[in-house]
Amino acid sequence: MEDAIAVRGLVVDRGGRRVLHGIDATVPRGSVTGLLGPSGSGKTTLLRAVVGVQEISAGTVTVLGAPAGSPPLRRRVGYLTQAPSVYADLTLRENAHYFAALHGRDRAAADAAVADVGLASAAGQLVGTLSGGQRSRASLACALVGEPELIVLDEPTVGQDPVLRADLWDRFHTLAATGTTLLVSSHVMDEAARCDRLLLIREGRLIADDTPAAIRATAGVDDLDEAFLRLIRATQPDQPGETR
Ligand SMILES: Nc1ncnc2c1ncn2[C@@H]1O[C@H](COP(=O)(O)OP(=O)(O)OP(=O)(O)O)[C@@H](O)[C@H]1O
Ligand SMILES: [Mg+2]
Repeated sequence: MEDAIAVRGLVVDRGGRRVLHGIDATVPRGSVTGLLGPSGSGKTTLLRAVVGVQEISAGTVTVLGAPAGSPPLRRRVGYLTQAPSVYADLTLRENAHYFAALHGRDRAAADAAVADVGLASAAGQLVGTLSGGQRSRASLACALVGEPELIVLDEPTVGQDPVLRADLWDRFHTLAATGTTLLVSSHVMDEAARCDRLLLIREGRLIADDTPAAIRATAGVDDLDEAFLRLIRATQPDQPGETR
């Protein structure tokens, strides 16, 4: 079966500066793939290119067999942006009903999506009055409610406590087991360990594309945190001026 995502020679410039320097990567269907890298390394930019909202300078991004962002993909791809993407002046339930309707899903599906992120008791609350972590989960519920084939999540667990994070990761794997593909960016190493595959990006270049076990083996350490540090230090920046 073809990959859910195939990125070839992807180059992106933002604000007159090269941000992605020729990325080649694939994401298999029915898997949870983690996208990791330091702040500013290009994670959000790569996810935007996959969703088809990022102008690109060179290369191709193919998603579920079609060019990224093409109209047939609209209902097939879900995207959780890094900033909350729900309407502050609607209740959580109203938001969920709205996003469900966009995807041809009924109100029961919307209410279930809200309950799935642990917010059933806050469903009647205006989103503008939710806490930061609750608002992130509200956005997540709205990204998941359409049951898209590919779900792109930009740091979905930021601001969540360990119990909620573990619940959310269990949900991601349940979805993958039914054939859904998930691409999830993260800063958190225990989350990286829960991914089927990992893409590690540094200063706009892919420096690892492998399973967590293979990345540990390549780096020669069991601790994934330490493995990433070693891989990141082993790769030299392109230009001397690029290091921060
Ligand atoms: N609109 C923009 N205009 C100019 N430069 C931008 C713009 N958006 C992002 N960049 C730059 O592109 C680079 C990659 O940013 P990106 O948001 O993809 O990083 P990231 O890996 O998602 O970081 P974080 O972990 O902090 O979310 C950064 O150097 C950033 O400053
Ligand atoms: Mg980001």
